[in-house]
Amino acid sequence: MDQVNWLDVVLRWMHILAAVTAAGGTLFARFALLPSLEETLAPEQRQALHASIRGRWSKIVAASIAFLLVSGLVNFINAVRLYDLPKFYHALFGVKFLLALGVFFIASVVSGRSALAERFRRDARKWLSINAVLVVLIVLISGVLKVAEKTKKPAQPAAAMKTRVEDRGPWPATLRQ
Ligand code: HEM
Repeated sequence: MDQVNWLDVVLRWMHILAAVTAAGGTLFARFALLPSLEETLAPEQRQALHASIRGRWSKIVAASIAFLLVSGLVNFINAVRLYDLPKFYHALFGVKFLLALGVFFIASVVSGRSALAERFRRDARKWLSINAVLVVLIVLISGVLKVAEKTKKPAQPAAAMKTRVEDRGPWPATLRQ
């Protein structure tokens, strides 16, 4: 177990748990909850149930977004710092990031309480369908990022690092003998 970097493991747990919650919640809402509500409940009952779900779910949505952003950004910075990555990695990561921002925006608005939220909810089927497509695309892209060939960068020799730190001193090298 000495070989395990526990910070990496915790970040990965955070990312995967939040991703499963975001993707699972979206697909469940679109393909099970929404059609069942429309089929079985009168409009005012539907609204009451919806308000009750929203109160609980919006907190989980906010926590998932925070987890995904923090763990995702740290993972990305570490990948760039420690590995030589194929060129397409950065482009694909950029696409994934933009799609994720779209998912976060729609999920926050649909589960929120603003006037905009009310307008979005009138078109809930459309917005949940868009988010369902986006989360599936994000998971597919993430799979490619995960298996992309990454070559570990050679470690910096300690002596070279020492010289570079000294070079950053306030005096010109000639005065530092
Ligand atoms: C709805 C939002 C998101 C979903 C569903 C999602 C899903 C995933 C999944 C399934 C993985 C693969 C995990 C593994 O196999 O260990 C992953 C990896 C990753 N995600 Fe996300 N993610 C989301 C948002 C984000 C965001 C916002 C960022 C950046 C800020 C991000 C950055 C990353 C990075 C850097 C990796 C590692 C890729 C690699 O192994 O090279 N993700 N994500």
